[in-house]
Amino acid sequence: MRKPLLAGNWKMYKTPAETKEFFSVFVPLVSASAHDVVICPPFIDIAAAVEATAGSNVEIGGQNLYWKNEGAFTGEISGPMLLASGAKWVIIGHSERRQFFGETDATVLDRTKAALAAGLKPIVCVGETLAEREAGQTESVLKTQFDGGILPLGDDLAKIVIAYEPVWAIGTGKVATPEMAQAAHAYLRSLLPVDVRILYGGSVKPDNVTGLMSQPDIDGALVGGASLDAASFGKVVNF
Ligand code: 13P
Repeated sequence: MRKPLLAGNWKMYKTPAETKEFFSVFVPLVSASAHDVVICPPFIDIAAAVEATAGSNVEIGGQNLYWKNEGAFTGEISGPMLLASGAKWVIIGHSERRQFFGETDATVLDRTKAALAAGLKPIVCVGETLAEREAGQTESVLKTQFDGGILPLGDDLAKIVIAYEPVWAIGTGKVATPEMAQAAHAYLRSLLPVDVRILYGGSVKPDNVTGLMSQPDIDGALVGGASLDAASFGKVVNF
């Protein structure tokens, strides 16, 4: 049985003060949850988030990392730095990083290896664009991303979480139907040599999370917009 994991990706939202305020409401809302609960705020909010969630069942993650431990890499953050700041998780290969910041399957693999070497739990994202879906290429795109960024992990594959995020459903309000998401999850699972959790991401909200979570191959959600509001993400966690 795979334990449900509900993770919030705050993207480029919230200051440290707003982070503190969020957790003062959110932590009590989810304290009785039996699900894994993770929030990935911007780097500058991690210290505030770790402090505000100390002793709770909420864990904190980064949204990216660089694959070198340290060096002359202006603007980058390493796995050991994230770990030292109290983060336990890290999102890797989000479609926004692939689309706007040149992320490739090869760099996804490098980052994932670095995250595992540092002792972080990676949430590795895959997903097709609208044009790719409409061209009937969903499975071939997922397979290319999987073969390039995930499969070479070998035995370490068991230590990651995969997030299926169809690009056309991110921030658009267009959620994949539970059946569409299930089909993609089942396909990804057919490629996997081991049992890992596969999260769905793309316009997950309190009113659609239950339908998605009722699918056999959907093990959780990676939530953007609805994770910014404590009451709303509390409802997602307590689906
Ligand atoms: P939304 O929930 O805002 O669509 O974002 C999904 C996402 O990209 C999570 O990583």
